[in-house]
Amino acid sequence: MMEVIERVLISKGELDRQAEELGRRISEDYAGKELVIIGVLKGGFIFLADLARKITIPVDLDFMSVSSYGDSSKSSGVVKIIKDVDTNIGGKHVLIVEDIIDTGLTLNHLVELLKTRGPLSVKICAALDKPSKRKANVQVDYKGIEIPDEFVVGYGLDYAGKYRNIPEVCILKKEIYMK
Ligand code: PRP
Ligand code: MN
Ligand code: MG
Repeated sequence: MMEVIERVLISKGELDRQAEELGRRISEDYAGKELVIIGVLKGGFIFLADLARKITIPVDLDFMSVSSYGDSSKSSGVVKIIKDVDTNIGGKHVLIVEDIIDTGLTLNHLVELLKTRGPLSVKICAALDKPSKRKANVQVDYKGIEIPDEFVVGYGLDYAGKYRNIPEVCILKKEIYMK
């Protein structure tokens, strides 16, 4: 599988340290509060699994499945809700957990949608931040590692559905997505 990889951008060690640090901050900030963590599938599943186990307060966990990229390497700009949460978030604090914020269109859409359901707050935690392509002005409260404008896979991120299971964040060889 690693034959499609140009190079490793972020090591597993660095990702583990980041999950630990963010988990500690989230545990402190939401202590004594009703928190619902919403993982955004599919990409968010690995980071959420790491992060959730570093959170030391009781939380509700739920999932939404949304897609804007499909099989393409470019965002379609249209956010499709494939699966919604089944938790009532009214009167609760919400934290959305994503693998990456790129254009910001996915998170912008999700925040606006969830705010219509009466939560006490809606905040964002993203493992990776690619600011160069930003189109929507989204506030990321728990911001992860900033990355350059490269097509990355692994740690939940895919290209055409593949490579999510690579443990590190890796730069995909151009010939793979240019063909
Ligand atoms: C990717 C990624 C984020 C989103 C970020 O999801 O996992 O959810 O795009 O891009 P944006 O900031 O430009 O909106 P994708 O649509 O590929 O679905 P997936 O998580 O199922 O791979
Ligand atoms: Mn995603
Ligand atoms: Mg994707």
